[in-house]
Amino acid sequence: MKVVMIGTGYVGLTTGLGYAKLGHHVACVDTDVAKIAQLDLGEVPFYEPELSEILREMQEEGRVMFTTDLASVIGRAEVIMIAVGTPASPTGEADLSAVFQVAEQIGSLLDHEAVIVVKSTVPPGTNKAVIARVRAAMQKAGKEVYSDVVTNASVPEFLREGSAFVDFFKPDRIVVGADDRIVQTILDRLHVGINAPRVFTTVESAELIKYAANAFLATKISFINEIANIAERIGADVTEVARGIGLDRRIGPHFLQAGIGYGGSCFPKDVSALHQLSGMNGYTFKLLSSVIEVNNRQRDLFFAKIERVMGPLKGRKIAVWGLAFKNDTDDVRESAAIDFVQRLCGRGAEVVVYDPKAMRNAKVILSQQVTFAPTALDAAMGADALLILTPWAEFRNVSFSFLHSSLLEPRIFDGRNLLADLDLAQKGFEYYGIGLG
Ligand SMILES: NC(=O)c1ccc[n+]([C@@H]2O[C@H](COP(=O)([O-])OP(=O)(O)OC[C@H]3O[C@@H](n4cnc5c(N)ncnc54)[C@H](O)[C@@H]3O)[C@@H](O)[C@H]2O)c1
Repeated sequence: MKVVMIGTGYVGLTTGLGYAKLGHHVACVDTDVAKIAQLDLGEVPFYEPELSEILREMQEEGRVMFTTDLASVIGRAEVIMIAVGTPASPTGEADLSAVFQVAEQIGSLLDHEAVIVVKSTVPPGTNKAVIARVRAAMQKAGKEVYSDVVTNASVPEFLREGSAFVDFFKPDRIVVGADDRIVQTILDRLHVGINAPRVFTTVESAELIKYAANAFLATKISFINEIANIAERIGADVTEVARGIGLDRRIGPHFLQAGIGYGGSCFPKDVSALHQLSGMNGYTFKLLSSVIEVNNRQRDLFFAKIERVMGPLKGRKIAVWGLAFKNDTDDVRESAAIDFVQRLCGRGAEVVVYDPKAMRNAKVILSQQVTFAPTALDAAMGADALLILTPWAEFRNVSFSFLHSSLLEPRIFDGRNLLADLDLAQKGFEYYGIGLG
């Protein structure tokens, strides 16, 4: 099939290459000229495992192309996907301006039958507004005769940064929200080759599934963080509790890692958007208010722990390992680690940071305030304390004897309980995790 993917970020590029790998012909469109130029040269503009190889492979096979000019590729598209960003607006609702702008652009250019798919995470009702905008723009451009054959579906994306390509090919399910049986069939055909249950729903249900999934996962994180805070007060170990409850198949082991809370480009904005959406529909989603509050408090509690142990931070040298919002990505959007670095700087600490992949993106936000070290151990040299804020595997594999001698004070605050099982106290460290008794 001929697919046009609009937006070549983490989702658009990964899924665009995924559809190409499935055998479709994909044209990827983005307004970011530099990004498209880079992709044209076979370079992925962000860090995501496996994408570089697959990009080169698909380019060699001629199944993917990149352009800033939607008009040049929309001509024969059977499926047009919208995967542009939907960040939080200042009031917490989803900012849909890019989605609507794309819808109007599609309408002004389209003059044939096509399915418009919204892959971006959008509140229920958005797909209807998108198709209305497409049709209105078609009519305005004198293409009224075609507007009835333009259909729409919501196909939300569930991939995780850091394992995006694997998630595309091995998803737990593919959700297709479409009111039209023919559209369902077309989108089922688009995904031939992916062995996963299809969940066919109404458009609104599909839109809500995405928000409900992210809100539920965020709730699990805030729940285990609450348990961690109790564990700490009564002398229990949250990692043992998480294992003890996670083996219950009704609960499951995932998203039960206590820490400094969730961040990233999805959970904070999606939880907040669902909360806002509920309010706008006359319903107070009380549970989500608490999920958000607990997540914010989690950072405050850990920061307070650091200050309680260290006293005033002014002039103290603090090493920070991890800046990305999670491991295996370079994405620092809404990263708790960035927030911590800013708080440390705000207290007058001298901060030296290291992250395996996210330093380039972090520099845009932090460059004036901190020193960027070339390795984890370089960052720790002469520091009064080490903070671990992103759970990268490489932080478990350093030489701890060397780390011990590098730190001025062998003190570790582990905001992800990444090293909790390594018995660092035995190795002479002062070790502080979250909810470890
Ligand atoms: N990142 C994730 O892990 C993830 C997972 C599931 C769903 N989502 C959702 O997918 C959507 C995209 O997220 P992302 O992380 O890929 O965003 P992103 O910011 O990485 O990419 C968005 C891209 O859209 C481009 N763009 C913006 N306006 C445009 C326009 N008018 N025309 C063409 N291109 C335009 C931007 O230049 C950018 O390259 C969001 O709604 C997000 O909530 C993200």
